[in-house]
Amino acid sequence: MVAFEVAVNARRLPDAERAAVLTSPPGFGQVFTDHMVTLRWSRERGWHDGRLEPYGPFTLAPATSVFHYGQAIFEGMKAYRQDGGSIALFRPGANAERFNRSARRLAMPELPVDTFVEAIESLVARDRDWVPEGWGRSLYLRPFMIATQPGLGFTQPSSDYLFCVIASPVAPYFGPAGPRALTVWLCADYVRAAPGGTGAAKAAGNYAAAFVASRQAADEGCDQVVWLDAAEHAWVEEMGGMNLFFVYGGERPRLVTPALTGALLPGVTRDSLLTLARGLGMTAEEGRVSADQWRADCASGALTEVFACGTAAVVAPVGEVRGRTGGWRVGDGRPGPVTRRLHHALLSIQYGRKPDPFDWVHKV
Ligand code: COI
Repeated sequence: MVAFEVAVNARRLPDAERAAVLTSPPGFGQVFTDHMVTLRWSRERGWHDGRLEPYGPFTLAPATSVFHYGQAIFEGMKAYRQDGGSIALFRPGANAERFNRSARRLAMPELPVDTFVEAIESLVARDRDWVPEGWGRSLYLRPFMIATQPGLGFTQPSSDYLFCVIASPVAPYFGPAGPRALTVWLCADYVRAAPGGTGAAKAAGNYAAAFVASRQAADEGCDQVVWLDAAEHAWVEEMGGMNLFFVYGGERPRLVTPALTGALLPGVTRDSLLTLARGLGMTAEEGRVSADQWRADCASGALTEVFACGTAAVVAPVGEVRGRTGGWRVGDGRPGPVTRRLHHALLSIQYGRKPDPFDWVHKV
């Protein structure tokens, strides 16, 4: 067990300025709290030097491994201010376990789950004044790990690593009016992940490789890119950095989300929504949906809603699809009732307004 020694207490903003940021947080991940957690790993010493220290820059040699070979992974999670003032994390153990799966895939050291959670708790407890109040607002937490061995050798993974957690108060991702329906671009020119690749890991390089497609989507007037499988370019995998759900509405809605083939990120929100949907009496399955099926089922009216989900945006409805061979609308192009119901059910647990039968909420 590593203790996070408090190096210095920092105050980066006067109370009044912090209060203004919390009332109206600027764009996603633009302002950071007073502190950060750092923890180092070396081949000789294992994990050591845990610190809770003022948020600030690192000094790294230009030859540091991460700059050249991109050994970097991250997580995304949130702390919520519940009614009554208590602060809660959501399934931090699930993020810790995924972090370790990413670490294994990138040949990086694993961090004991308890240490990961303790690091998050230490930062949130110290910077608890930074957790905003209000439905949809939260403190976004970004744990990450980078390779810090200086040198350009490529025969072995780095011998040294830095784990760090930073935190940023955030407003609802799609503004105070709530999620608007997105227009998505079916990406035919690039692939995000291939079998045996790093698609299931939250590796920084996956995101770097996606920017060119996001730019293409924006050029086509779309908000986000939808990735298809690498082999056949037929099967829907993910949207941007989020998982997708297809809703076949009716008396008992049926939800289908792409199965975890190894090329998709196993989202914690995805997993939570599968459980919540079943608890609400819906059918929720992991399966395969092709782009052609998506189009045909929208045309027949069987497929009534599509939404994406992830920690940052929570639930994001998809209203329109565009691609090289034309486009189509999903339902009436607006956020649908199943999407809104699941979004509300999830937030209700996160903000402590509804019972938490799954033991997901972790009070700090
Ligand atoms: C998250 O939802 O936490 C993500 O990691 C998406 C991020 C790239 C903004």
